[in-house]
Amino acid sequence: MATVELESNKNLANDHDHMKGVKDLLDAGVINSVPDKYVFPENRRPSAAQVVQGESIPIIDISGLDGSQQERIQTIQALGQACSEWGFFRVINHGIQASLIGSMLDVAHQFFLLSSEEKMKYGNRDVLDPVRYGTSFNAKVDQFFNWRDYLKHFCHPVLHTPDNPPNYREVAGQYFKEIRKLALKLMAAISESLGLQPTYIETVFKEGLQIGALNFYPRCPEPELTMGFVPHSDHGGLTVLLQDEVGGLQVRHKDHWVAVEPVPNTFVVNVSDHLEIVSNGRYKSVEHRAVVNAERARISIAAANGPALDALIFPAPQLVDETHPLLYSSMLYGEFLRQQQSTALVGKGNLDLLKTPKRE
Ligand code: OGA
Ligand code: NI
Repeated sequence: MATVELESNKNLANDHDHMKGVKDLLDAGVINSVPDKYVFPENRRPSAAQVVQGESIPIIDISGLDGSQQERIQTIQALGQACSEWGFFRVINHGIQASLIGSMLDVAHQFFLLSSEEKMKYGNRDVLDPVRYGTSFNAKVDQFFNWRDYLKHFCHPVLHTPDNPPNYREVAGQYFKEIRKLALKLMAAISESLGLQPTYIETVFKEGLQIGALNFYPRCPEPELTMGFVPHSDHGGLTVLLQDEVGGLQVRHKDHWVAVEPVPNTFVVNVSDHLEIVSNGRYKSVEHRAVVNAERARISIAAANGPALDALIFPAPQLVDETHPLLYSSMLYGEFLRQQQSTALVGKGNLDLLKTPKRE
């Protein structure tokens, strides 16, 4: 009897319209198994055995950038080391108010609690549309669906937001503005750590494009069978990620995965593909993934701080020489972004396409 019930439950779940999102699926009825669409082949599942214990990403106290000359130099060196050894670091003492962080997490949560009809007003849109809601990564092409719903919207140079919840625009406007200031400060320090002028990255990025990406990972009855977010690197320059207290982010380090524990009021920053290009590979964008769990839904809020859509991104000439041959060909950020968002994610596959042929 129980098996029959489970079967019919699974059939119902398999017949559901998955384009509306994972939350919509769960709201439609009791789901006690993961529908086939979300079941990953065994070798792509998030085996706990691949996750090492006792390691964590570096922590950078960025108040040092406003300190004495010696503190500034030390902080820039620590940032450079974090970028080259990990490509990921946690930022503390960033000066962004805890109340603003709390409000942002609140409005993000409220957005995902809206009805599917309301959210689908922003569904099925072009990948470069300034506001879009969706599920998985690119549900039109993904073979296996990620256990994830998302909202993406442009934040800079022009703020675009959904109309609901009513206070979303005001809170997100303030939040992403503060995050952009933080990202620019980090980019200046990172430019210096590469021996470039502090304004170098900001200048090649032109006006810049900041995209907010809100991730919602509902509770999952069989988390070991699926992925919240498949392994990928991020487009753009620097991603600044805020996660709630649930946890699920893992970063590839050497040949294993390291969990990034949630720490309230801190941000996780990572080197993204266009910083790898500008640095001519000195700093590498790093693969990361999100796993889900059976107990609690999780929210994370990423801000991709990248170049303007019409900015041509290429390795800094100062970082190309006899011992450091040119590693990437140049490409307009807008073209890269369209391609990256339109294909199923496979690790760093999109950046690999820009790699120059190896010299003998
Ligand atoms: C992303 C991302 C990870 C997470 O939004 O690009 O990698 O922990 N998110 O949600
Ligand atoms: Ni990411």
